[in-house]
Amino acid sequence: MVTHDLLIVGAGLAGMRSAIEASKNEGLNVAIISKLHPVRSHSGAAQGGINAALGNADEDSVESHTFDTVKGGDYLGDQKAIEIMCSEAPSNIYELERMGANFSRDEKGRIAQRPFGGAGSSRACYAADRTGHAMLHVLYEQLMKRGVMVYEEWHVVKLVVENGTVCGLIAIHLLSGKLHRIRAKAVMLATGGYGRVFYNSTNAHANTGDGMALAFRAGAELMDMEFVQFHPTTLKSTGLLISEAARGEGGYLLNSEGERFMKKYAPNAMELASRDVVSRAEQTEIDEGRGIDGCIHLDIRHLGREKILKKLPQIRDLSLKFEGADPIDVPIPVRPGAHYSMGGIKVDVNGKTNIKGLFAAGECSCVSVHGANRLGGNSLLEAVVFGRRVGASSAAYASTADLADWVDEALQDIAFDIGLLHNRLEGESYAKIRTELQKEMILNVGVYRHKDKLTLAKTKIDELKARYKDAYIQDLGKVFNTDLVEALEVENLLELAGVIVEGALARQESRGAHTRDEFPKRDDEKWMKHTVATKDKADIKLSYSEVSFTRYEPTERKY
Ligand code: FUM
Repeated sequence: MVTHDLLIVGAGLAGMRSAIEASKNEGLNVAIISKLHPVRSHSGAAQGGINAALGNADEDSVESHTFDTVKGGDYLGDQKAIEIMCSEAPSNIYELERMGANFSRDEKGRIAQRPFGGAGSSRACYAADRTGHAMLHVLYEQLMKRGVMVYEEWHVVKLVVENGTVCGLIAIHLLSGKLHRIRAKAVMLATGGYGRVFYNSTNAHANTGDGMALAFRAGAELMDMEFVQFHPTTLKSTGLLISEAARGEGGYLLNSEGERFMKKYAPNAMELASRDVVSRAEQTEIDEGRGIDGCIHLDIRHLGREKILKKLPQIRDLSLKFEGADPIDVPIPVRPGAHYSMGGIKVDVNGKTNIKGLFAAGECSCVSVHGANRLGGNSLLEAVVFGRRVGASSAAYASTADLADWVDEALQDIAFDIGLLHNRLEGESYAKIRTELQKEMILNVGVYRHKDKLTLAKTKIDELKARYKDAYIQDLGKVFNTDLVEALEVENLLELAGVIVEGALARQESRGAHTRDEFPKRDDEKWMKHTVATKDKADIKLSYSEVSFTRYEPTERKY
């Protein structure tokens, strides 16, 4: 059986940044395993920027970045973790720059920075509107330079944990279709988000929360899963992201009456209020009949052709190709779409989970730096800052840990489950189950929630979980069986949807991205606490943990 000291699952920004850091430990056997080729990871779709208080565009400070992040998260973020992220941001940016990340430049040749939602200063460093793409490629170069082994296009199907300690994992080698056991002293999860639980989503089809579901089944705690970010500007027909950078550069939102409606909801920040505020405002306009064919208009025409082509070339291209709307000439039809999971695998500031030897970083984890609502530009930042930290801490652990004994029933169990999918020749298509789940989630667990809607969603998820047992795959071949992978992904989506809904039903308040119609106010007395979900056979158990405070007292958020 193949053995590694540290095995990192996922090859986006967090995974690659961790591997680079861990590989600095000479003699440590580090590898990455990923269902995608690293540069096809979803981090590459991040557009607008990465936050750091460099102060290049206007006055800024780490303190101000920290406060904006605490406030943006509606005071649910752990302040100690936020302080770490914001204070380590500048050095991480300069490190990326020295690796060769081609950030856009200001007139003095420094890294250019633009305004983003919920931020008191122009803090988002950017590479036009392809920031994630630029960073992903530079990290991949570093990974290659260091000769880190990458298992590309392997799908992990089970995390093997025995007596509370991680032993390794089981994965399908997609090219051959064979199941493999890989032992490791430490496993680090960096598998990204679960955006595809929802029908309208900015996320790649591959974003099915695999790491969170694997960890949950293996006994890890998931935290604050009810907090789902809906990005205010996603393209009408496809849900593709139209970066906040468009508003950062001066674009504005219009309803069917041609009104800049944000003045009613956030008179100071307007379109640059935090995302939860803007998405709710848009949804209200649409629900109250002031939408345009179920959308809102994002108007950037006044920026002019030159600026659009220089600073926002990708969103122009996306709008043109996928919506037939050239934003140089016409407004872009947009609406809120699922974008980011604030919740994830509960970790400390060094990425440790409640399972010995299991670590996590990036969107699949919850430190929690985003609290109840993430600020734009803080996700790339979290991925690099905590990727780096967790790379170091998991490597330190793996350097001294022993290999845990392997349990062979793990392979037999998963081979049996996969065999069931392969052997069923008829039944229901899992793709139908996935679509029904996604539509249910956007309808009843979206921007506005209510007990009745959430209860409907819970019933539907239970029904879909039961139907999944009879689902079948059409491709019975071995080689690159994406039909099988997608069926396994649907199981993960169902698992996580259940946790999201359970947490959302329990939380009887409105905070950040979680809005309950019947509890419109934040309730610090009862709900200033993190939701912690664990799996108890088929049941989801909820408990609560404390929020860490350093110096910011909760006050009402106003933008
Ligand atoms: O709108 C955007 O460019 C997205 C950025 C982010 O989610 O941080």
